[in-house]
Amino acid sequence: MARADSDRAPAALGERLFAARKLTVDLAAPLSDADATIQPFPDASPAKWHLAHTTWFFETFVLRDHVLGYTPFEERWAFLFNSYYEAEGPRHARPRRGMLSRPSLDEVRAYRVHVDESLERALPHLAPEALELVELGINHEQQHQELFLTDILATFAENPLQPAYAEAPPTACFAVEPLSWHRGREGVVEIGASEDGFAFDSERPRHRVFLASHELANRRVTNKEWREFIEDDGYRTPALWLSDGWAWAQQEHIRAPLYWHDDGSQFTLAGRREIDWGAPIAHVGHYEADAFARWAGARLPTEAEWEDFAASADPMIGNQLDQAGAVLPRPGGGLFGDAWEWTQSAFASYPGFAPAEGAVGEYNGKFMSGQLVLKGASCATPRGHSRASYRNFFPPAARWQFTGVRLAKDA
Ligand SMILES: [Fe+2]
Repeated sequence: MARADSDRAPAALGERLFAARKLTVDLAAPLSDADATIQPFPDASPAKWHLAHTTWFFETFVLRDHVLGYTPFEERWAFLFNSYYEAEGPRHARPRRGMLSRPSLDEVRAYRVHVDESLERALPHLAPEALELVELGINHEQQHQELFLTDILATFAENPLQPAYAEAPPTACFAVEPLSWHRGREGVVEIGASEDGFAFDSERPRHRVFLASHELANRRVTNKEWREFIEDDGYRTPALWLSDGWAWAQQEHIRAPLYWHDDGSQFTLAGRREIDWGAPIAHVGHYEADAFARWAGARLPTEAEWEDFAASADPMIGNQLDQAGAVLPRPGGGLFGDAWEWTQSAFASYPGFAPAEGAVGEYNGKFMSGQLVLKGASCATPRGHSRASYRNFFPPAARWQFTGVRLAKDA
């Protein structure tokens, strides 16, 4: 996935920048101001907030810091749309983002236009360090495009009218093959991003790790297999669960993946649909993924096993990585069910890790506590955003993302 330096020349960078900026606006096209204002729960943000926050990111770290004489669109909005950057000062409380009926969706759209026009004027004159922040901003925007979709799914799931965001049918991304096992490499291998091209700071430096003898499943776990786990009382058998996971499942009354209903239907971005039993499982948390793996006589892969598998030019996995990332809405198949894969690895720093300089050093490093790495990509990941070294991360109980499972075992 190394990106040639020529791609970072202002013209090529600008093309990617404005394509990414436009896609976010396109994703919001089906939404009313009310749709875009609701916050379904504290970890999920309103669509309007995503539209504004990604804009604040460019306005603050590129325009304010690198363009002389830039005038902010509305100074008071920094308080509303700073997510978690302590270095940028106090901010609106995350769980209260759904209270922002003002500014309106149209005002936020105008904010985007203002910042995009300023970026377009500034781009040919930006210093290399500012161009790197534009690159970071594009990747940041893409991450929020995925969150935008998962948060709209959570928002619409709260509505008894079960509205559909998109009309695309929820077909599986990949034909279901019989489960088979792929022998992974054993010994010292390298993981992490090289110094070429864009990667987040947490993916570096590339370094050596030791892999014990192991095998990985050729495909992700399916909905049908998850149903077997449920029917075998998997959610009611404490011996399968980690202690924290069991406590969570009892307290939250977890008995099935998020969005599943007892009648065999599932709430999706296309509304409530019959579960596609052949599709890969999605919307499961790490706790239940771990319990499922134990029930299946297996375990979750480590991130090093997964990454070495993906990067070792295995045509099957490589193919999946290439295909991953069809941003909704797209007519036809391949949309609902292709999911990030939980690993058993903690999101922690690699040996020699150095956070990015400045306020954006808060991007990843400060979240290296209590979160697990997920590898791959999902149906909501923008095409080209992920790579073998990519480290998505969420706390173990999170299940509103498109998160699934691939099994591994010692061999
Ligand atoms: Fe963000």
